[in-house]
Amino acid sequence: MKTVKIILVNLCRLALALTFVFSGFVKAIDPQGTQYKLQDYLTALSLQGFVPDAVTLLAAVALAAIELTMGIMILFAIERRRISKFVVAFMAVMTLITVWIFFANPVKDCGCFGDAIHLTNGQTLAKNIVLMACALIVVRWPLLMPRLISKTNQWIITNYTLLYILATSAWCLWDLPTFDFRPYHLGANILKGMTIPKGAPQPKFTTTFILEKHGVKKEFTLDNYPDSTWTFIDSKTVQTAPGYVPPIHDFSIEDQQGNDITQQALHHKGYTFLLIMPHLEQADQSQFGDINEIYDYAVDHHYPFYCLTASDEKARQKWEDMTGAEYPFYTCDETTLKTIVRSNPGLVLLKDATVIGKWSHNRLPKEIMSDKPLNELSIGQLNPDSVAKRVTEIFLWYVLPLFLLSLVDRIIVNIKRRKDIFVSHKNNRTMRKKIVAGNWKMNMNLQDGVALAKEINAACAADKPNCGVIVCTPFIHLASVAQVLDQNVVALGAENCADKAKGAYTGEVSAEMVKSTGAQYVILGHSERRQYYHETPEILKEKVQLALANGLKVIFCCGETLEEREANKQNEVVKAELDGSVFNLSADEWKNIVLAYEPIWAIGTGKTATSDQAEEMLAYIRSIVAEKYGKQAAEDTTILYGGSCKPGNAKELFAKPDIDGGLIGGASLKAADFKAIIDAWK
Ligand code: 13P
Repeated sequence: MKTVKIILVNLCRLALALTFVFSGFVKAIDPQGTQYKLQDYLTALSLQGFVPDAVTLLAAVALAAIELTMGIMILFAIERRRISKFVVAFMAVMTLITVWIFFANPVKDCGCFGDAIHLTNGQTLAKNIVLMACALIVVRWPLLMPRLISKTNQWIITNYTLLYILATSAWCLWDLPTFDFRPYHLGANILKGMTIPKGAPQPKFTTTFILEKHGVKKEFTLDNYPDSTWTFIDSKTVQTAPGYVPPIHDFSIEDQQGNDITQQALHHKGYTFLLIMPHLEQADQSQFGDINEIYDYAVDHHYPFYCLTASDEKARQKWEDMTGAEYPFYTCDETTLKTIVRSNPGLVLLKDATVIGKWSHNRLPKEIMSDKPLNELSIGQLNPDSVAKRVTEIFLWYVLPLFLLSLVDRIIVNIKRRKDIFVSHKNNRTMRKKIVAGNWKMNMNLQDGVALAKEINAACAADKPNCGVIVCTPFIHLASVAQVLDQNVVALGAENCADKAKGAYTGEVSAEMVKSTGAQYVILGHSERRQYYHETPEILKEKVQLALANGLKVIFCCGETLEEREANKQNEVVKAELDGSVFNLSADEWKNIVLAYEPIWAIGTGKTATSDQAEEMLAYIRSIVAEKYGKQAAEDTTILYGGSCKPGNAKELFAKPDIDGGLIGGASLKAADFKAIIDAWK
């Protein structure tokens, strides 16, 4: 069941991540396309005049940045809880918008994937319902998404992604979209794009006729048209099926007299320049000198040159006065012009009606200055960058720097950690005690337990540990194990003690009895005792008091269940456990407390908390100890981690600044494993 849940959450995570990365990226490389789409929405709401172009453009860039960053964060599981909530909120808004466009039909294409993929309003709604369901699944169990990158490096990924997407948008605005998904891309033949292939579906229409007889009106079709005793009143024709619409269906050029010269322009053999300026009033004038030179070049080499615009005669006059333009103006549909090239002005070079060059006004072709004919220049040949090249560029500009930055971050973190270790070694006096403690639980008979204790003692005597070592055994082992341990090297502890000092409590073992065996420690508050023996915070409070009163040091455990962690209640739970049983102690008593954070979901399950998760909790625990007993006491408190700690992960866990060692269950039952964990401090 758990595995199914993990698979489900991660499939949803993947679906959300890939969708957002893709939709963010296609928007970022064509901010103007997204801006036009936003303007379509404003027009549908009759708000077009109220929002300045700069605002819609900024909104387009922001939308791309949000979507891509969100996708990357979900993919890498960065800030899992927060980002999944954000995704739900984002999807809720988007789904509402798509419900509106599905029913009201204000725009034909939602624009989710720019020009890369066009969806009908029904398809968009279905897509968003699926994504919303994925978002709800992810937000329910965000911690089931494993992190792909350590917490320390997460900020790099998020910030660099944001920077990358803003830089990409800026570049594509200054130049042209890196990928051109429109029907006028390099290599596209406009005449071909306008052709309706033979056998393509034709639009279907149905006509109904309204006729009258004896004052009764009735509707008929051609199939059941009645006899002449009926009088014709009216007819209506509706389209019942759409026909094939070619990719280019609205390209037409008119000269100043209103003559359609589209065919003439497109059937020209050889090169043709199109200067595209949807709106002369908003066109950038900074490059007018270069544009005039390109026109002169075209005239010198007898290449037709058309300036296509949707602006009126007055605007043309003004443009000519301001720029000294001598080229001829032609009229073309504004939306078509905006689709052809995302630059105002932008230049397009056709050869036999095929688009072989496109330039923004910021990057007009300089080769033309050489005055050679186009067929001798590289710009006269169709030479688009291959998709592989562009994808490689994206890789080099995004993935590689990310990798390098993460590497640098790792190196800095390591240097810092070494420095910290060096400083803490120097300030040995104030360094809190590091401990590795074994909790044998109910696993061994007396003979096996004594043998294990001997083995551990011998191993630690032969190779002095860099930390305190404790073995906590069942009651029946204590006295015998005490005989075989050198407690200067391996200290002894019990796994429990009674909540009563003395008396008629059959089967119980008091703190005093434990102490009398030679033991120095006792584990209290272990989740197994809370769960199976119903030890409440009040009972534990009694036990702690009695243990301390009898000169025992207490290893006090706390930790949350999986459900509590999934509900993000771990801090709350742990704080309540400490509040209920140990935060009542005096500052002096506190000096004899060792804390152990043991997430219940990690105990004996083989599922360790990651070193980041453990560190986060131990740092939190230290912070609440500081609130209660002051900063210095918190600095001096030893806090252990417990839960599937083994030789393979001990080093990483102990490397964390707040983790002072481990409380080891299963792995403390084998001397070699226990010793390997002890050696993680070396
Ligand atoms: P494991 O190391 O077997 O997960 O047990 C941890 C524990 O409960 C120590 O007290």
